[in-house]
Amino acid sequence: MFLPPVSALILINLPFISLISALNDNLTGPGLAWPNKLWVPMGGFTSPGTIISSYYNWDSNPLIPSIKDLSNSIIWEIPFPFIPMLWGCNETYIKPFQKNLLKNFNNILLTSKKEILGFNEPDHPQQSFCEPKQAALIWKEILEPLKLKGFRLGSPAVTNGEIGKKRFKDWFDACKGECNPDFLALHWYDIIPQNFIEHIEYYHNEYNLPIWITEYAPQNFSVYNSETGQYDGQATYIEVQRFMDITTAYMKSVDWVERWFWFGAMYDMQGVNELDCLFDAGGKPNRTGALNELGVQYAGSNGSVTIQNSMSSGTEDTTSRASGKTKLYLIGITCCLIITEYLIEQLK
Ligand SMILES: *[C@@H]1O[C@H](CO)[C@@H](O)[C@H](O)[C@H]1NC(C)=O
Ligand SMILES: *[C@@H]1O[C@H](CO)[C@@H](O)[C@H](O)[C@H]1NC(C)=O
Ligand SMILES: *[C@@H]1O[C@H](CO)[C@@H](O)[C@H](O)[C@H]1NC(C)=O
Ligand SMILES: *[C@@H]1O[C@H](CO)[C@@H](O)[C@H](O)[C@H]1NC(C)=O
Ligand SMILES: *[C@@H]1O[C@H](CO)[C@@H](O)[C@H](O)[C@H]1NC(C)=O
Repeated sequence: MFLPPVSALILINLPFISLISALNDNLTGPGLAWPNKLWVPMGGFTSPGTIISSYYNWDSNPLIPSIKDLSNSIIWEIPFPFIPMLWGCNETYIKPFQKNLLKNFNNILLTSKKEILGFNEPDHPQQSFCEPKQAALIWKEILEPLKLKGFRLGSPAVTNGEIGKKRFKDWFDACKGECNPDFLALHWYDIIPQNFIEHIEYYHNEYNLPIWITEYAPQNFSVYNSETGQYDGQATYIEVQRFMDITTAYMKSVDWVERWFWFGAMYDMQGVNELDCLFDAGGKPNRTGALNELGVQYAGSNGSVTIQNSMSSGTEDTTSRASGKTKLYLIGITCCLIITEYLIEQLK
């Protein structure tokens, strides 16, 4: 009987992360849809002025940077509250979700209202694709009871378009009043800002609930061109910026849009217009996570990242965070030793 070294590492990680105080933890507004695992640091989004206030990663398992990454540079810190998601409607997704729920999501900081997101695009064959009945059943069984535990729930997120509208209504009807999301999560891809506005107004008016847009970006999916391997008729960079301006101004102007998540905070845009990328392309080879103009517009931060090792003298802010970090390491390691000792006692 022995403790594998892997568990020891995890034990070090948990208390360490949970003690970092979050940036903007009481704000709503722009967040990060963050698909990158630990492949890209969040540094550009955490730089001075940031209004980013949450992130989700299409999963219930929060990302925890390794001690090694963190000791190399603060650009690896993930200082925003986490929003877990139950991605799909079958055991493949339910089991890990319940496991992470039981572990209290590794004690990572959640949003102050403890928000959780439901199924990802249940109307899309390449996404979670759940029959409305199944989605209703799993919602009632797994998600709805979490309201009593103080969680606030986001609806399944359907794609924009008539199929999404119908799927959403079919799910809602199949629930027979027993699915009570606290807000609606929506996805939207197209290029005319006014259509975006009308789309979210439709859902708000139809269901009388607050709205989150958990994926959106200017992307025209109407005509696939097999010669270029791309969709035709995309927005230009100016149009992308204008789209962000108009939609952001609108979302801020109404009190029923709570959070929004641009696609994408990622280097690989997964088939969506490359011009929607929030990162500076110059940082791609070394994955610095520095932001471009659009990223700065979205996040409000200055978007720059400084690799700690190459920094001649830290700013006040960086220094205090770094020394705070050292203290947290010690707490983390102490906790680890205590837990290890305890476990060894139990195994004897
Ligand atoms: C956020 O809200 C909580 C509860 O209202 C409060 O205790 C905390 O100080 C607030 N944090 C900030 C940074 O304002
Ligand atoms: C669950 O659904 C996904 C598709 O969303 C599928 O790939 C997977 O095989 C399913 N798992 C089970 C256990 O049915
Ligand atoms: C999307 O692209 C198609 C094909 O180029 C074009 O006909 C259509 O007008 C575009 N959509 C918008 C809203 O501009
Ligand atoms: C990437 O990092 C390497 C090693 O630090 C450096 O030599 C190189 O110039 C960097 N490349 C870019 C594009 O920043
Ligand atoms: C962003 O802020 C940091 C820290 O204050 C500073 O070192 C850096 O020069 C700023 N970058 C830009 C592009 O203004």
